Amino acid sequence: MPGNKHFSWLKAANVFGLGEEAFWPVSLDAMGRLDPDALGHAIERARSVGRPVLAVITVAGTTEAGEIDPVDTVCDHLDRLRAAGIDVWHHVDAAWGGFLCSMLGGEAETVLESRSLKALRAIRRVNSVTLDPHKLGYVPYACGAFLVRDHENYANSLFAAPYIDRALANDRWMMTLEGSRSGAGASAVWLTGQTLSFRSDRFGAMMAGTIESCRFFARALQDGEPLVRPLIPTDSNIFCFSLAKPGEALSVSNERTASVFRTFTADPEFSVSHTVLSRENYGELINAHVARYGGEADTDSMVLLRCVFMNPFWREESIRAALMPRFIERMQAHMN
Ligand SMILES: Cc1ncc(COP(=O)(O)O)c(C=O)c1O
Repeated sequence: MPGNKHFSWLKAANVFGLGEEAFWPVSLDAMGRLDPDALGHAIERARSVGRPVLAVITVAGTTEAGEIDPVDTVCDHLDRLRAAGIDVWHHVDAAWGGFLCSMLGGEAETVLESRSLKALRAIRRVNSVTLDPHKLGYVPYACGAFLVRDHENYANSLFAAPYIDRALANDRWMMTLEGSRSGAGASAVWLTGQTLSFRSDRFGAMMAGTIESCRFFARALQDGEPLVRPLIPTDSNIFCFSLAKPGEALSVSNERTASVFRTFTADPEFSVSHTVLSRENYGELINAHVARYGGEADTDSMVLLRCVFMNPFWREESIRAALMPRFIERMQAHMN
């Protein structure tokens, strides 16, 4: 499990009674993505100590900064192991980024960097996927999905209820932890598909627009304020940055960035979030970030402001022209 995982994985490990120590963390590279070599070593280590591997997890669209793990490279590695008789389940947490796949196969996909493109294309090769329509699917909460490629795999979680008379074995209700529940979320996803269409030139174009807006924002913000230090890379539509002077210690820029976040939360005009990356998970990324402005990584965590681009209207020239200078003005006001 890579260090960029969502905290819900810790909950899952506890719910299953495995305990958090069941996770073997896989280190990240300087871009904050799972390092395939480190994964290879972890699997080797598990083999040598006779420890079965329940699953390998990759993340397509991390919660913090939207990075996309190299799903394709991991698939290749697991295929090689499979050919040697070792079958490891591969799950992709695409809760955030899954809908970016709607860009594939058309003009919209050209907005992606080739490594992100390859990773998203490889999702079809894995065993299972988490997809959250209540995130980039624009569907109101709650609608989370767990998808498997092979329908038979649902049988692992199949429970029969003698009082429910259903001829159909393998019916949906039999496979999930929840019993009774609302069908509103699922209907909303269906309706989204019917009205917007998940095709590359429709929904996909909207996803491409969020990425393009995010990149526009990142450029304009750096042009407008020299203390903005962008987190690199920006694989999708989340832009994170810190506010640091050249050569400054991380502890000092952390204080400034956190203080701007605190005042921004009271700002009625913009909604900005923040996150804190730990050295334990993101050591290389933090070092690379600080090195770009000659700073000093003197502390174990890095505070970032985090701007998430979901709103399709950011694509409009007139909206950008109205919002961008105003955002910079508000941010600079909060810096003083
Ligand atoms: C990558 C990722 N996985 C899982 C989750 C958990 O989703 P939920 O809050 O819908 O349970 C999130 C939520 O932000 C996420 O970003």
